[in-house]
Amino acid sequence: MDLFDDLPLLTDGALTQIAPGAVLLHGFVREADADLLQTTRSVVAQAPLRHWQTPGGYTMSVAMSNCGALGWVSDPNGYRYAALDPVSKLPWPAMPACLLDLAQRAAAQAGYPHFQPDACLINEYVPGAKLSMHQDKDENDLRAPIVSLSMGLPAVFLFGTPSRKDRPQRYRLVHGDVVVWGGPSRLAYHGVAALADGDHRLLGRRRLNLTFRCVGSA
Ligand code: SIN
Ligand code: FE2
Repeated sequence: MDLFDDLPLLTDGALTQIAPGAVLLHGFVREADADLLQTTRSVVAQAPLRHWQTPGGYTMSVAMSNCGALGWVSDPNGYRYAALDPVSKLPWPAMPACLLDLAQRAAAQAGYPHFQPDACLINEYVPGAKLSMHQDKDENDLRAPIVSLSMGLPAVFLFGTPSRKDRPQRYRLVHGDVVVWGGPSRLAYHGVAALADGDHRLLGRRRLNLTFRCVGSA
């Protein structure tokens, strides 16, 4: 049985409200996908993807990098945003204009005009990699939404509520989909199920996810 048999198929340009203040923009990125990917590759050529250690002593299965003024990092002392890449001690690469523009257009379409992200976390998943349920709460500015772009292999995105006890819903995210969550869903628990193997025309056996955040000042 196909893993996604119970999930609806939606066409490019469709919008699904997944929770109050949270939408899935199906196929938001179309023709520009190869350019966005090339731009992302140039960022990770400067700031390589790596597997951070968690405060709990685990090594993350997802490999991460960042662009923008601030980058999300983790080590045994905790999670935080940092202006310098802790490995190279250099500032993160600037957020490329085409990525910023995409994030702002998606936010506006989802009902969040004036989105000014200062951080973009780049997540790379290979088959079996997953992200356990968590809240994005290390940002100072919780009025701004999170904008999340998926590229490469499809994933099952789990999206719940701000209460950990509520059972999350499952959504299939494919290449070009964007999820935006803010307002009453800004602190919703979310995660990504273990990536199924496959072969994507541009990314092979990988999924890339870019999340744009407004960290703001403390
Ligand atoms: C995240 O929660 O930061 C990433 C979500 C995803 O990979 O879709
Ligand atoms: Fe997250």
